[in-house]
Amino acid sequence: MTVRVLTGITPSGTPHLGNYVGAIRPAIAASRDPETESFYFLADYHALIKVQDPTRVQRSTLEIAATWLACGLDPERVWFYRQSDIPEIPELTWILACVASKGLLNRAHAYKAAQDRNREAGEDEDAGITAGLFMYPVLMAADILLFKADRVPVGRDQVQHLEMARDIAQRFNHLYGPHFVLPQEVIDERVATLPGLDGRKMSKSYDNTIPLFAPPAQLRRLIMSIVTDSRPPGEPKPTEGSGVFEIYRAFATPEETEVMRRAFAEGIAWGDAKQALFERVEEEIGPLRERYEALIAQPHLIEEQLREGARRVREKYATPFLRELREAVGLRALDKTVVAVRQPSKPKGSRPMFKQYREADGRFYFKLVEGDRTLLVSKGFDSPREAGERIAALKRDGFSAADTTVALSEGVEIETVHQALARLREE
Ligand code: TRP
Repeated sequence: MTVRVLTGITPSGTPHLGNYVGAIRPAIAASRDPETESFYFLADYHALIKVQDPTRVQRSTLEIAATWLACGLDPERVWFYRQSDIPEIPELTWILACVASKGLLNRAHAYKAAQDRNREAGEDEDAGITAGLFMYPVLMAADILLFKADRVPVGRDQVQHLEMARDIAQRFNHLYGPHFVLPQEVIDERVATLPGLDGRKMSKSYDNTIPLFAPPAQLRRLIMSIVTDSRPPGEPKPTEGSGVFEIYRAFATPEETEVMRRAFAEGIAWGDAKQALFERVEEEIGPLRERYEALIAQPHLIEEQLREGARRVREKYATPFLRELREAVGLRALDKTVVAVRQPSKPKGSRPMFKQYREADGRFYFKLVEGDRTLLVSKGFDSPREAGERIAALKRDGFSAADTTVALSEGVEIETVHQALARLREE
């Protein structure tokens, strides 16, 4: 069975060598795996959350699309499309918003960080925070769930969003039947983080980047400006901690890297090492830059490709699946048979309930039990009030695997907990 792998790319900012080595190059290599069905899309609705300058949104979308195509993404073998060309995504976003718990979204790191900044600045905690930022995880869940993705490669900062997507999918499945596949994040631990001009991780926020498609003269100038120590030519240089060496290694073969390692040991001059680095990077990037420039000069070709990608992926997946989901939630043609609604009868005796207790350590605990099974056990709280508040929050917002105050008992499926909490809520 082929595995579905889905990658979302937010079109904001100009890609740099770090993005290329850490994300673009490995993702494109992975797209060639015959065992996978790959989805790559430009998350331009997500970009609107950050960028409210229309020309920048448009320009970034063009640049990022051209970058991925120039680097070898093949729209004939992967699904390549633009989020805003798939009306099923915002439609699904609403349907999911109606099952996602607000409490879950309240706990999103990005939203909480924005609130923390406001509080520190003495402002109202929601000052300047849009509902779009708050809803970001729901939109992302729709991106993923609409295509039944099994795997989603992401950075560490996105793991919580995947947990939320699973949580939302489970709630939906519980309410309406098993329509969604639960996606799994894939974090590539080897992902190279490239050092930037100043030796820290190459990142836009440090302003130490080398743009991926800088013209050769600028590329050379930037490489020449990489910070080094002051060892003179002839003095051996450690490769450890050398940005020049690290970037070289990210582009070179193992053999070439060995040759460079020896040159360092033999005291190669920094200027010569940097010249070699420039030449090695240019050897790989030069042909890509040429393709990139040709693509950027013909935006209509990219536009056509994206539209065609969206048309095909909608026809094959998005449109029929959304039809199924609308049916599932009751957005149905009125002339179809209306089925009487029956309440499922609840078996007596095995009602889920929370039990609070105190342990020998003097702290306050609770557990969620159903019949003679224990589903959840809490950590110790300092007061019964705190434990009670946590119970109330669980009843209200549901349980997430990311929750550190309660633990799933061994052998218990998270789905069982969702169902038990849903039953408690109905009572
Ligand atoms: N939030 C992701 C990021 O900033 C981009 C993204 C949007 C995404 N939708 C997605 C990634 C769906 C994976 C799956 O990197």
